[in-house]
Amino acid sequence: MLRKLKLKNLPKHIAIIMDGNGRWAQSQGLPRNFGHKEGISAVERTIDACLKYKIPYLTFFAFSTENWKRSKQEVDGIFDLIRDFLKTKRLDFKERGIKIVTIGDDSAFPQDLQGYLANIKADTENCDNLTVTLAINYGGRADITQAVNKLISKGVKKVSEEDILTSLYTGKTPEPDFVIRTSGEQRISNFLLYQMAYSELYFPKVLWPDFNERHLLKALKVFSSRNRRYGGIK
Ligand code: IPE
Ligand code: IPE
Ligand code: MG
Repeated sequence: MLRKLKLKNLPKHIAIIMDGNGRWAQSQGLPRNFGHKEGISAVERTIDACLKYKIPYLTFFAFSTENWKRSKQEVDGIFDLIRDFLKTKRLDFKERGIKIVTIGDDSAFPQDLQGYLANIKADTENCDNLTVTLAINYGGRADITQAVNKLISKGVKKVSEEDILTSLYTGKTPEPDFVIRTSGEQRISNFLLYQMAYSELYFPKVLWPDFNERHLLKALKVFSSRNRRYGGIK
């Protein structure tokens, strides 16, 4: 199947708004956190597939600055799942050359979770097969705001687009070529606002816990058929 894809048209950076966990659980009569749990399996499948297709950058929107509006039970459940994920994957990611980075303000998270995040980032720092960015307590507006404040605190009087771009949480990570939001919702929900100026967008109906390699391949085909013009003429 991969042979049919125009390989040179594969995205370098895929960013995913993982949506539909709650609906997936509700459709089976289960509490919402079961959907988040299954969502972790979809994250693992997607990481495997991106390694297989040699996509170098993958970003997951895991928790938004607005997700604090949910019940404490749901928020704590999501933190528990992230904690387990980081604990069980630490060695495995290192062995497979997967570098973990985060974007967003994790200082609002439980202390131990901040520690697990710091550990996995330090352990996988020199990995270079695939960079996985976890967007946690992330908001596009908060990102632009912290970038501007960072520049102000350096004493910068006049900023360039490049200054803003490199001061964002994403730093030197290339901008996403392809943003996928599952579950059929067609909105950005305060994701990488500045960074996705020229991203291709794709909104498959599949709920995130059901997302698998087949869905990713379909998405890659869609991407490879797009004609990116960046305001110019082809
Ligand atoms: C996405 O699934 C996961 C997070 C936002 C953490 P949702 O929990 O938003 O699922 P739906 O949209 O309610 O189905
Ligand atoms: C976006 O999904 C945030 C994440 C996937 C982490 P939401 O489910 O929170 O977005 P809205 O509320 O439908 O816009
Ligand atoms: Mg949702």
